[in-house]
Amino acid sequence: MTVFKNKTDLIAFVDTLKSKRNTLGFVPTMGALHQGHGSLIRKGLEQNDFVAVSIFVNPTQFDNNEDLVKYPRTLDSDVNLLNEISEEKIIIYAPTVEDIYETNVLSTSFSYDGLEHEMEGKFRDGHFDGVGTIVKRLFEIVRPNTAYFGEKDFQQLMIIKKLVEKHDLPVNVIGCEIHRTNDGLAMSSRNARLKPAYRKAAPFIYKTLKLAKEKFDAKSANKVTEWVTKQFAKQELLELEYFIIADTKTLKTAKRKSNQKSYRAFIAVYADDIRLIDNIALN
Ligand code: PAJ
Repeated sequence: MTVFKNKTDLIAFVDTLKSKRNTLGFVPTMGALHQGHGSLIRKGLEQNDFVAVSIFVNPTQFDNNEDLVKYPRTLDSDVNLLNEISEEKIIIYAPTVEDIYETNVLSTSFSYDGLEHEMEGKFRDGHFDGVGTIVKRLFEIVRPNTAYFGEKDFQQLMIIKKLVEKHDLPVNVIGCEIHRTNDGLAMSSRNARLKPAYRKAAPFIYKTLKLAKEKFDAKSANKVTEWVTKQFAKQELLELEYFIIADTKTLKTAKRKSNQKSYRAFIAVYADDIRLIDNIALN
């Protein structure tokens, strides 16, 4: 397993792979890897000769410094997990902050045609500027044929597709299904920080999303939203930040249902001080 800590070495390695006509998949991550990340990497390996995985906790996408400081950093166990998937076909890029940002740890401002103003964009100031900055930079360094992103962060996936389209980046972007634990909780690096009682309460999020989907067949978006809000008001350990039914294409909150449109429900919940997000396709 090759772990590159600086871009010069990685760039030279990718040059060699490309000169031999290998295709390269890419899975950008912030580490603390779990099988959700694993599912993206496996898909990349099915479709490419090699897969690059970046492990970098990107400071410019955190609106909350405490969240950045507490974000788990577990490079050794990440390397072990990747070794179990494939020893020969995975390349790891785990740069320092300086390698990416030099002395200027700032994000560029991006427009994603309004996608950035919805949901996570409203609740996490500057988040998608930070995401766009790091993903564009990583694409330029790694130069993959195809990059894989999870539907777990559905808005991020849409924003990356928009970034690629607007900047004409030569990368094919593929979205991958949400990977869940047996009790339905969407896998996340943050789950490891949940205290036992909160971990036990957390599957309520997906359970409620599935019921919301059933209700959406017969009820309006407003009625379903009211119902979900009531369910969370009864939960002692989970605090609802938002539940939104949105048009899948624009991510704008659905007002009136139309048979021609597709909708998705998005949720953000605090379990103690840990913020969990999830989403589900409704039709
Ligand atoms: P991170 O949260 O580490 O996630 C890396 C990728 O794994 C993202 O595309 C995310 O959607 C996907 N992922 C996480 N949990 C998943 C799950 N349970 N099922 C399926 N996919 C899952 O997202 C980021 O990092 C960062 O914002 C990044 C894109 C790396 C930029 O810094």
